[in-house]
Amino acid sequence: MNRQSRERRPSHDDFRHEAFEALASTNSECLARARAGDPGNLWITAARQTGGRGRRGRPWVSEPGNLYASLLLVDVAPLERLSSLPLAVAVAVHDAVRAVLPLDAPALDIKWPNDILIGRRKTCGILLEGEGLPGGRHALVVGIGVNVKAKPDDAAYPVTSLSEHGTSVSPEELFARLYAAMADALALWDRGEGIAAVVERWRRLACGVGEKITVNLPDRSISGHFCGIDDKGMLMLDTGGASPLAIAAGDVFFQKTE
Ligand code: BTN
Repeated sequence: MNRQSRERRPSHDDFRHEAFEALASTNSECLARARAGDPGNLWITAARQTGGRGRRGRPWVSEPGNLYASLLLVDVAPLERLSSLPLAVAVAVHDAVRAVLPLDAPALDIKWPNDILIGRRKTCGILLEGEGLPGGRHALVVGIGVNVKAKPDDAAYPVTSLSEHGTSVSPEELFARLYAAMADALALWDRGEGIAAVVERWRRLACGVGEKITVNLPDRSISGHFCGIDDKGMLMLDTGGASPLAIAAGDVFFQKTE
């Protein structure tokens, strides 16, 4: 791919897709392809994973029937603009799930930064992993797991699946929606130049603004009121101080309101 094609907005035809019956992890396969010189814009899907990974090193149970998909992006944007990419990914997954969910299903929302919830229960997890490559290039893998038919029974947070809400979509059909929605979201994101448009869409789809939340950081937890996100996509948390705290990464938990 030459410099010019890397710098224009992607269209649906710019992406390739390889489907597997089983892989350890679609994210690992994407990273291996990047190390072997793949130019990126490659989707890898698997019907099941034997070593699916979640955030913070947690396993992601990956039985057949759910969607396991990863997108390899190489030199997708300058590194300082990558922090807004999770929001664009959330918008894409929300669009794909919206298209297959019955109209009378509970609310479909995004929880900061990019969990997709149905009726406040997690139905999709997204794991972004990056790695430097020889020659100064940079690989970024967007891994997406959607509970289509099954959900984990030992999760530490409320979970659901699409099938619980009357959707009979196959992982393949949902992937076709995701493929198109991601191309559109990446075009809107425009290598990070379109962050304002992405933030605006994200704000319309998010839940919990104004509510009391706890944010788990690697070394501590902070509670406060969720004020929304700033123009860079950082979570703004009102902890009672003079101005809200801006948080770049963490796990959000909603608290029950009286
Ligand atoms: C989370 O913990 O919320 C993120 C879960 C991400 C799981 C997906 S499934 C497809 C891809 N391959 C992996 O090993 N993980 C991601």
